[in-house]
Amino acid sequence: MAEIINNPNVLERLREEIDSAVGSSRLIQETDLPNLPYLQAVVKEGLRLHPPGPLLVRTFQERCEIKGYYIPEKTTLVINAYAVMKDPDSWEDPDEFKPERFLSPKEDEKELAFKYLPFGSGRRGCPGGNLSQIFVGTAVGVMV
Ligand code: HEM
Repeated sequence: MAEIINNPNVLERLREEIDSAVGSSRLIQETDLPNLPYLQAVVKEGLRLHPPGPLLVRTFQERCEIKGYYIPEKTTLVINAYAVMKDPDSWEDPDEFKPERFLSPKEDEKELAFKYLPFGSGRRGCPGGNLSQIFVGTAVGVMV
């Protein structure tokens, strides 16, 4: 909500989308979300810049070698998802709040899997990712 308030153009575009898809006589509901792609992009962009779980932790069950690095058993690996999601090599204007970036067709799922990690990744990734997108989208949409 802070990013929306600080970016009045985003607020305006969100209101327009909600007014045209839902109308102005009722609040949005979960079932409206498929018709609100910009709202969904706003939620994604919010989680990119402000991930509630910025560090992902893994422990190696066995020693192994990755790209020439020898990693002993029981090593703890901390992945800085916050930094990955602000990496200028992967994101244009990484510090800017630009939900439009998630509307672009070039941001396909496969490419995003390596650079967009608000829900972690792999077998220990967050199982609540889809549910969160729905309830955060509905809550933000209702407030807007
Ligand atoms: C915006 C909301 C949420 C965010 C940003 C979030 C983020 C995360 C992150 C970053 C992890 C660690 C993933 C990893 O290490 O790869 C995680 C794990 C987990 N999350 Fe979420 N989460 C959210 C909502 C939820 C919801 C709604 C549920 C359940 C209904 C949930 C259930 C879990 C569980 C059970 C794990 C542990 C998975 C495991 O260790 O195998 N999360 N979440």
